[in-house]
Amino acid sequence: MGTRITPYSAPDEESKKEQVARMFDNIAHSYDFLNHLFSFGIDVLWRKKSIRILKQHLAKSDAAVGSKIMDMATGTADFAIEAVRMGLNDIHITGVDISPGMLDVGRQKIRKRGWDDRIELMEGDSANLPFQTGTFDAFTVAFGVRNFEYLDRGLAEMHRTLKPGGLGIVLEFSKPRRFPMKQLFAFYFRFVMPTIGKLVSKDAAAYTYLPESVQAFPEGDKFMKIMESCGYKNCECIALTGGIASIYTGIK
Ligand SMILES: C[S@@+](CC[C@H](N)C(=O)[O-])C[C@H]1O[C@@H](n2cnc3c(N)ncnc32)[C@H](O)[C@@H]1O
Repeated sequence: MGTRITPYSAPDEESKKEQVARMFDNIAHSYDFLNHLFSFGIDVLWRKKSIRILKQHLAKSDAAVGSKIMDMATGTADFAIEAVRMGLNDIHITGVDISPGMLDVGRQKIRKRGWDDRIELMEGDSANLPFQTGTFDAFTVAFGVRNFEYLDRGLAEMHRTLKPGGLGIVLEFSKPRRFPMKQLFAFYFRFVMPTIGKLVSKDAAAYTYLPESVQAFPEGDKFMKIMESCGYKNCECIALTGGIASIYTGIK
């Protein structure tokens, strides 16, 4: 679905999934640092906003205590950790990711906080999830769907694992449309980030793949249409920080 953007060249020899896993394994140890640096810490605010939406949903559905949440493409587990930090204590979060390197960093962070009983991380692919239908009260996926090899299959799988009435929350980059944010964002994303990213992470491709994949990724109404075609209802989109990122929500 959409233009196929992969981190490295020769995509025929290695699937997008394999390339993406390799890329995140390569940058795992600098990922958190660069993430917060490049976004000036705004990514933390975006995650917090998504978690407030999650909290409201759980409170409304009386599922706050003992509810099961999946954090898809959990990476270094920032989203899961922030959820517990923001008071979602009585839930169990399962973080899933294809990159063992990112998961290792995430496990260290969770262990350091003594939260192993609340957050469990496992290797898995969004296109083929090892969970029964109707397992989770909600799922979150932050900056993950853009990297899926099969976007529609991933969205459909995550939908399948939700309980009826469960909430899906997708946080993803989008493109600002208005002056001067549009021009500033384009310059920053295309020139500043790849240069610093290459120096710090030592993976030149990772931070050119980022703007290319954002450029090619469906956003706004287009993305909500894809969510609807995968079974989500009442889809909504909230634009963040002048449209740099968006939160999409949908119900099973
Ligand atoms: C940009 S990171 C986001 C990590 C984390 N959610 C955050 O907010 O910082 C994207 C993550 O998606 C993972 N990923 C990409 N494709 C995936 C797939 N098909 N299934 C599971 N995880 C995937 C990558 O390994 C990577 O850790």
